[in-house]
Amino acid sequence: MDRVFSGVQPTGNLHLGNYLGAIRNWVKLQNDHDCIYCVVDLHAITAWQDPAELKAHTREVTAAFLAAGIDPSRSIIFNQSQVSAHAELAWILNCVARLGWLNRMTQFKEKAGKHREKASVGLYAYPNLMAADILAYKATHVPVGEDQKQHLELTRDIAQKFNNDYGVELFPMPKPLILGTATRVMSLRDGKKKMSKSDPSDMSRITMTDDADTIQKKLRKATSDSELLPGQEVLDETGDLPEETRQSRPEAYNLLGIYAALADKPLAEVLEEFAGAQFSLFKSALTDLAVASLGPMGSEMKRLSADPASVDAILSAGAEKAAAIAQPILAEAQDAVGLLRF
Ligand code: TRP
Repeated sequence: MDRVFSGVQPTGNLHLGNYLGAIRNWVKLQNDHDCIYCVVDLHAITAWQDPAELKAHTREVTAAFLAAGIDPSRSIIFNQSQVSAHAELAWILNCVARLGWLNRMTQFKEKAGKHREKASVGLYAYPNLMAADILAYKATHVPVGEDQKQHLELTRDIAQKFNNDYGVELFPMPKPLILGTATRVMSLRDGKKKMSKSDPSDMSRITMTDDADTIQKKLRKATSDSELLPGQEVLDETGDLPEETRQSRPEAYNLLGIYAALADKPLAEVLEEFAGAQFSLFKSALTDLAVASLGPMGSEMKRLSADPASVDAILSAGAEKAAAIAQPILAEAQDAVGLLRF
């Protein structure tokens, strides 16, 4: 069976964008893949993290996986630092990847900004650790968003060079899995900005811990406009929403997109359903749908946050299962490189 690996950084305030763009798709993959889902705490520390918060966020992301329906009896869930093969393989890959390759990484340029000299060495080598995450399991498929595609291409380059340099066929070339129509979830206050964990206004986002009342309140106050809702005529021949049209009513199209994603329906169907309707009527339908699908998840996250020991037990058991796969692959890599093993 195909093996899926994906990782998410431990951050707080996981929101609807994280859920619809990533975690929800990971749940579906469990049906026909071996899935390994990792909370990448070693990646997180490439920028300084408050230690207590890092622990809390690692548990929070794990709780989000569980509440969303990732099943630890079918998939492996663990935190990266607890499987030492990641760091060990990353070192070997540091010696395979070229400076020139890393210099092209746009995410490093963005994150380091003008003060490159002040960025950690870890931030620079971040993509090599990500390659190690994937290759330590010989993963064949990696669900990633647009922003991580370049890192996955680098992973393929590293895998290829390793195989070439050492005359082995150890690492398969992992393929990106681009899932569904990427839902771009925008802020509830300003449809031109992405929904973000760092927006100072909590009203701008629906988080995975929000309960039914909070979801209701946030959607009621979400920015709308005074026109009636559009119909299918706004879509182009291929059923896509032209960017210009989206920009003409960013809040309306954001909420319509969220509705479509939560209902798991094409946008065309949603437009047909609400064509000509008052915004207020659409909003109350959206609220009902959001409360029904997200409310139970919020309650489950609350329950899990009150029971960190059970979350830790799942991570610990997951790390053991992950290590059982990664250790022998690390050993193969060490052997190929010529490191003596005893
Ligand atoms: N870099 C990814 C991100 O920020 C997280 C990540 C780390 C990852 N290791 C991975 C994703 C391996 C996929 C596969 O989103």
